[in-house]
Amino acid sequence: MISVSGKRDYKGQVIFLYEDDSSYIPDEVLEARNISSTLEGKLYSVTNIYISNKFYVIVGLGGYRDLDMKKLKSVVAKSVKQMKKAGIEEYGMDITPFIQRFDSQCLFHLVEGIKLGNYEFYGYKTDKKEYDYTVFLQGIHKDINQIKEIIHKAENIVDGIIIARDLVNAPANRLTPELLSQEVILLGDKAGFEVEILKEDELEELNMKAFLTVGSSSGNSPRLIVIRYNGNSTSDKVAGLVGKGVTCDTGGYCLKASNTMGGIKGDMAGGAAVIGAIYGLAMNKVKTNVVGIIPACENRISRESYIPGDVIDSMSGKTIEIINTDAEGRLILADAITYGIKVEGIDKVIDIATLTSAVVAALGFTTTGVLTNNTEFYDKLIKASEKSGEQFWRFPIYDEYRDMLKSDIADIKNMGKDYLGTVTAGLFIGSFAEKLPWIHMDIAGTAWVNPPVFQYQSEGATGAPVTSLYFLFGMGDE
Ligand code: BES
Ligand code: ZN
Ligand code: ZN
Repeated sequence: MISVSGKRDYKGQVIFLYEDDSSYIPDEVLEARNISSTLEGKLYSVTNIYISNKFYVIVGLGGYRDLDMKKLKSVVAKSVKQMKKAGIEEYGMDITPFIQRFDSQCLFHLVEGIKLGNYEFYGYKTDKKEYDYTVFLQGIHKDINQIKEIIHKAENIVDGIIIARDLVNAPANRLTPELLSQEVILLGDKAGFEVEILKEDELEELNMKAFLTVGSSSGNSPRLIVIRYNGNSTSDKVAGLVGKGVTCDTGGYCLKASNTMGGIKGDMAGGAAVIGAIYGLAMNKVKTNVVGIIPACENRISRESYIPGDVIDSMSGKTIEIINTDAEGRLILADAITYGIKVEGIDKVIDIATLTSAVVAALGFTTTGVLTNNTEFYDKLIKASEKSGEQFWRFPIYDEYRDMLKSDIADIKNMGKDYLGTVTAGLFIGSFAEKLPWIHMDIAGTAWVNPPVFQYQSEGATGAPVTSLYFLFGMGDE
């Protein structure tokens, strides 16, 4: 829990220290300096000291001018991890250095650092003991009520990240398409969004053949999860957020040779991000309309499974030649986008998916790959990313790239050759977006980290790109 006011005497105290700004050095630090000469404020340096029975965590911030929001959330996460390790459940945190530098602008990243630094996937251990903490923020002297409101809203957004992380970290047998649907219904009740779950017979009626083809590979049948959040009744515009929801990707008959856990059980991270982002928007009652569309299914081997060489149908009417059954994400997303256009009347679309290992080779674990047909829309995403601190990079689209998906026997094929895996996968999906403004996010590198890259991450799911999606719609100009 994060508290803005309250008790004054705690068992622990977090202090942040700039390297080059001595205008704010608390007495405790001066005292501690007599004990530890390492207190110079170097970025990410940590000193843990007991002074008169109180546990101090002193964390360096580096240069006053060099501190930015990403570093801020990392130093905060680092500090709370020390308290957690020491088993201290109530402690003060003096945020004067952040307020001095950034005013209330720092609050979102502060809350993110605290909550994500403390995040742990407790899993299914029978003797789990959850760490229950309260951080008392110090150094806020004016506009207390306004600040409490900002912190409250930030907590709702970060809860959306945590929801996404928990869903992605859950193993496939504990989160089948049906179980995922049940979770979303519960979240809808809490946050106030509408949820509709479409089962196989309804998917048949809609002719969602590409989605059904992948889903038929498993005894755990597919579900189309539709989330409607209408926060702006004065507008009839609605954006489609389409998230890949493969709760288990074995590769199908093109069985994965070897894989990471994230690649198999985390293949619904796009869907989880959609759920987390809409949760934040609904909790904060943001004035916008979005529909989340999550095709949830498994990609396994069964008697009914599709195989390379098959030609399948899709809801759009286009036929698809299957080159590789492990390129399943684009098939289900194609139908989900068509559903968004034909049934939900979306006016723009963002698809989010753990789609290609090629994006990891290109951009690593910290940057999401993007394709888009609309620079204005992309500019909005970049503005949102400046608020979220998440990184995106746009891939080029040239005509000859589109040719790589031409099939001799069907309208399109599900995999190109000659490299360029991220671009061809994105272009396959984009060809179903018709003329709508479209952004494609390939989060195969950013949704899962092992080991973590930043202090505010832990091994496993990251919750990317919940915050960027939130700010894309939650900045007030939608
Ligand atoms: N879900 C995977 C992509 C993936 C790989 C995500 C590793 C996270 C970690 C996707 O369905 C897949 O298997 N893609 C193939 C496509 C190829 C067969 C054209 C890939 O990228 O190898
Ligand atoms: Zn796959
Ligand atoms: Zn996949």
